[in-house]
Amino acid sequence: MKIINIVGARPNFMKIAPLMKEMRKHAGIDALLVHTGQHYDVSMAGQFFEDLQIALPDVSLEVGSGSHAYQTGEVMKRLEPILERERPDVVIVVGDVNSTLGAALTAAKLQIQVAHVEAGLRSFDRSMPEEINRLLTDAVSDYLFVTEDSGRRNLLAEGISEDKIFFVGNVMIDSLETSRRLWARSAILDHLGLKKGQYGVVTLHRPSNVDDLSILKGLIGALADVAQQQPIVFPAHPRTKKSLESIPELRSMMYFDDGPTPSRGIHCMDPIGYLDFMSLVANARLVLTDSGGIQEETTVLGIPCLTLRENTERPITVTHGTNRVVGSSPARITAEVARVLKAPLPTPIPPPLWDGQASQRIVAVLLEHDAGRCRPSRPS
Ligand code: UD1
Repeated sequence: MKIINIVGARPNFMKIAPLMKEMRKHAGIDALLVHTGQHYDVSMAGQFFEDLQIALPDVSLEVGSGSHAYQTGEVMKRLEPILERERPDVVIVVGDVNSTLGAALTAAKLQIQVAHVEAGLRSFDRSMPEEINRLLTDAVSDYLFVTEDSGRRNLLAEGISEDKIFFVGNVMIDSLETSRRLWARSAILDHLGLKKGQYGVVTLHRPSNVDDLSILKGLIGALADVAQQQPIVFPAHPRTKKSLESIPELRSMMYFDDGPTPSRGIHCMDPIGYLDFMSLVANARLVLTDSGGIQEETTVLGIPCLTLRENTERPITVTHGTNRVVGSSPARITAEVARVLKAPLPTPIPPPLWDGQASQRIVAVLLEHDAGRCRPSRPS
């Protein structure tokens, strides 16, 4: 079975790493990796290959930055000849970034089967580019691997046949568990002079939070208040850094350097690699984020997470996990932080099948169904 795996942006790397490792265990699988190059900086891509021990890509499409249409279109144009040459049985796409959709559409139009890992998640907010990517990718996929039951319900409600849906758990948690020994040894806390349980971590990169400068100002104001009680470490995405740098008033509310974190205030720095980031999160008192994946990681690690968005496509992190969706109102954020800091740390209870074995289940499904040759259907 020939499988082409697609990665493109930072949140894809930790999802594809365990799948590639699992595929390499099976002599009957020829697994290739295509990197679209949607993310290309060392801090957004290269470091993750190293940290997650992903072999170098077989093909790099070098698409780079651009508008949504540009990125999606370039992925399609550059991937098509590769798929025509290689004629894989299946193309595996993960997550919800523009590379996911571009690759899924390209494969589907060439009548190559598409497997979508992390299918069915829905925020029901079509102003999010990821929601469009999720809906369309799922619509053309043959294998829909879901991380939580809401995924299955959403897909069924959209008319997708149950035969194509497989509840397998969460590959992102496979990476977290496999690399636990490595990130537990990270020196990032010492490097930043931080003490376990005595700091917060912030990440922000959603266009709705960081491209609208009035919202960003409100968020940074609230974080600056919170950071009077304990320091906040803020590895900033390039998109966010650009916005922060454009407002001198905001720049002056933060420290920007590589040295130790001061005892109070917001310490803004360049994005950091996977192992250091996992270590930072696992030892934090709380996390504030607009990322999707971090809601899942904090749930498994038992770290309180405040999601600075109006919705989540990952409801299990709220019902089972440590996540609370609080929006972007500064008053609500400071009140929620006060509530978290008063409460004891929660005990982590991983959601069903978030056990580090999701990649094994996915590869087993593909082999069992002889993917590429047969359409999925459940054994009766
Ligand atoms: C993309 C995904 C988003 C994901 C996020 C994780 C889509 C629609 N969005 O958003 O779902 O959560 O990745 O980071 O696919 N840039 C660099 N270096 C890089 C990459 C980007 O400087 O290696 C800068 C460029 O100025 C670029 C901007 O960041 O224009 C945004 O990058 P882009 O890939 O368009 O979207 P993200 O905001 O990263």
